[in-house]
Amino acid sequence: MATDGNAALIERDLAHLVHPLQHNAAHQGGRVWVSGEGAWLTDADGRRFIDGLSGLWNVSAGHGRRELVDAASAQMMRLPYASGYSGSTNERAIELGERLAGITAEGINRFFFTSGGGEASDSNFKMARSYWKMKGRPEKTKVIARQWGYHGVTLAAMSATGMAPYWGLFEPRVPGFVHIPSPYPYFYDAPAGVSPGVAAANELEQAILREGPETVAMFIAEPVQGAGGVIVPPDDYFPRIREICDAYDVLLVADEVITGFGRTGRMFGMEHWGVKPDLIQFAKAVTSGYFPLGGIGISDEIAATLAQADTPWMHAYTYSAHPVGCAVALAMLDIVEGEDFPAQAARKGERLIGGLREAIGDHPNVGEVRGLGLMAAVELVRDRDSRQTFDPADKVGPRVLGEVMDRGLFTRVRGDVLCLAPPIVTRDEDIDRIVEIVHESVTAVLGRG
Ligand SMILES: Cc1ncc(COP(=O)(O)O)c(C=O)c1O
Repeated sequence: MATDGNAALIERDLAHLVHPLQHNAAHQGGRVWVSGEGAWLTDADGRRFIDGLSGLWNVSAGHGRRELVDAASAQMMRLPYASGYSGSTNERAIELGERLAGITAEGINRFFFTSGGGEASDSNFKMARSYWKMKGRPEKTKVIARQWGYHGVTLAAMSATGMAPYWGLFEPRVPGFVHIPSPYPYFYDAPAGVSPGVAAANELEQAILREGPETVAMFIAEPVQGAGGVIVPPDDYFPRIREICDAYDVLLVADEVITGFGRTGRMFGMEHWGVKPDLIQFAKAVTSGYFPLGGIGISDEIAATLAQADTPWMHAYTYSAHPVGCAVALAMLDIVEGEDFPAQAARKGERLIGGLREAIGDHPNVGEVRGLGLMAAVELVRDRDSRQTFDPADKVGPRVLGEVMDRGLFTRVRGDVLCLAPPIVTRDEDIDRIVEIVHESVTAVLGRG
């Protein structure tokens, strides 16, 4: 097993690897992870950390789950791979489609599988465009997305992602992607007489009218914006979005890549508001990260249109419907349902968010502590009342992250927003330790206020 310590391994890593978000300076102090158990990770120096973001929001069942490993290994022995292209399929994919039909929104009953979330975004862009072509409306091609939305980084998914730092080096973006403001309650100023949720939703109507309804194929939104900083919309936001999409024949796509499978306290995030999307996408916790798998789910109306087409839907991945991924997902669904992940996330989320509010909610540099289920964020600002943000050059977020890491909590920041989404199996005492660490770290950088 690994004999080198963390620093030596990082040096070897830097010689030959290019990483996601590659940045040599940031990687210098990086960790090399060698093992995990439950909500805990161990690095190459033997130091233990709480996995504060469940890897990248995916390892919700925690590390070391024998059931997931056994499912993968049994399927690898029986049938490690088979083409998923039309004319060829496998038992596990069929079973997973049946299971997903039972837990996704009513009217979503057919699924296409991918290797992850970005491919799921691309699959939905192409599904939406092809649907409108099959309906005789080929000019409906545009995608409306939101600022602070994250949908992956393939060239098309990146063009939907609403964070400019992801674009810079890779411009030009794919044409036909438009962004509207996010329903960001802390920063969003609604006009008088309209609730912030409805006002933010109405931005979609204005964008559709600006672009021309006959050109807009779909609107994509995460129920709770995750990587953008755990932004929870007001309760009246998505019901109004649904009305607008219906009024202008725009498909509503729910990106449940982070929010799916219990994370927000419901099986899928959109259930909080009783809103039924036309298309969904999922990835991450569907296998708890034990195998790369994602996918989309399509409405009965879209499925019926696709079924009548006389030409093939020319979209495909070698690893679509991977039997091992599907086997792991089936074992994961047993865990999600058997251990009632939605209820656990709701209860532990209250403990985490309530604990953070009590510990640092009144701190003058804490703009807000927010979250839904077991996903939470602490928004750090120069002044909470005027909502004045820090100068990015002050690097407040990264400094707090450094303190957090020193105290044994591994997570990420978006600017000055500290994001938290530990595994749903995290023990109560570890949730309390996260609160303690965040409290100590915020006061270490910003004082007691
Ligand atoms: C909401 C959402 N959609 C899509 C993606 C992209 O997934 P992947 O990194 O598997 O391509 C992510 C990744 O964080 C995500 O959070």
